[in-house]
Amino acid sequence: MVWNQTKPCPNDNFLKIGFHFQPPKAYPHPTPQTKTLASIQYNITPSPIFLTSIAEAVYEKEKPGVTWPKQLNAPLEAVDPEIADIIELAKAPQWKGLELIPSENITSLSVMQAVGSIMTNKYSEGYPGGRYYGGNEYIDMAETLCQKRALLAFRLDPENWGVNNYGTRSHCGHLSHGYQTDTKKISAVSIFFETMPYRLNESTGYIDYDQLEKSATLFRPKLIVTGASAYARLYDYARIRKVCDKQKAILLADMAHISGLVAAGVIPSPFEYADVVTTTTHKSLRGPRGAMIFFRKGVKEINKQGKEVQS
Ligand SMILES: Cc1ncc(COP(=O)(O)O)c(C=O)c1O
Repeated sequence: MVWNQTKPCPNDNFLKIGFHFQPPKAYPHPTPQTKTLASIQYNITPSPIFLTSIAEAVYEKEKPGVTWPKQLNAPLEAVDPEIADIIELAKAPQWKGLELIPSENITSLSVMQAVGSIMTNKYSEGYPGGRYYGGNEYIDMAETLCQKRALLAFRLDPENWGVNNYGTRSHCGHLSHGYQTDTKKISAVSIFFETMPYRLNESTGYIDYDQLEKSATLFRPKLIVTGASAYARLYDYARIRKVCDKQKAILLADMAHISGLVAAGVIPSPFEYADVVTTTTHKSLRGPRGAMIFFRKGVKEINKQGKEVQS
């Protein structure tokens, strides 16, 4: 059955968990930041239905000068009912089904509002304050805030850690770690880099750290990756760090599947040991589809000439 904005969803719970995109009647009180940004610009007195009233006030104020085609402000179901219907159809399996794909999660309406905003109109290659294109002041503001929050979420000192957002990656985690079969290199990483896997001790279900160390001694890796799509144990980061130090290798922790647990402080954090930590934002963090790369700042090593090498 197809249902859309004009036909209510067949299940009450569906509405309750925020899957139906009827515009909410009232938004919560604004945060101090939203108050300043929008109310200063448009001289609006904030109210409990703040966001709705801003939209209306902005429209009223700008209306005389608006000449753009109606279509730009029309909702999806009016402009493209076929796509709108497909989106509505996609809700059903997410609502009714039990999805056992570990890399997926269900995000919130507010996240979808943020990623489906006018920010999508901007090209913004580069970093805050150093973009290729002009007019990125609000993108910079948003990204700087995200960086601040990302460091806060993992209790990191900005003196020692930096973070960049990473829009897309080419292959799923285990593949991006260099997965290949006996006959075929599956991922771009395994094509462009020489990789060597390490395995579990199948009788215990834990990573075979002794074998990892032996392989590293032979292989001399420049980088060792921890993190997996389906490892239901804690990682011994200290042990892998020791192997990295012996090999002068970088330790990259891909915490994509566990970053929500790390942020909540309920499992050990890789930040104590890793040089680089990566995570997607859409798994246990329940954010939008995206990724982040955290990097340790400061002195990486003292070289043979006795000089400090920065990370
Ligand atoms: C360990 C791990 N890292 C990262 C990712 C994210 O991969 P992608 O770049 O395809 O989003 C996944 C996907 O499930 C994963 O299992």
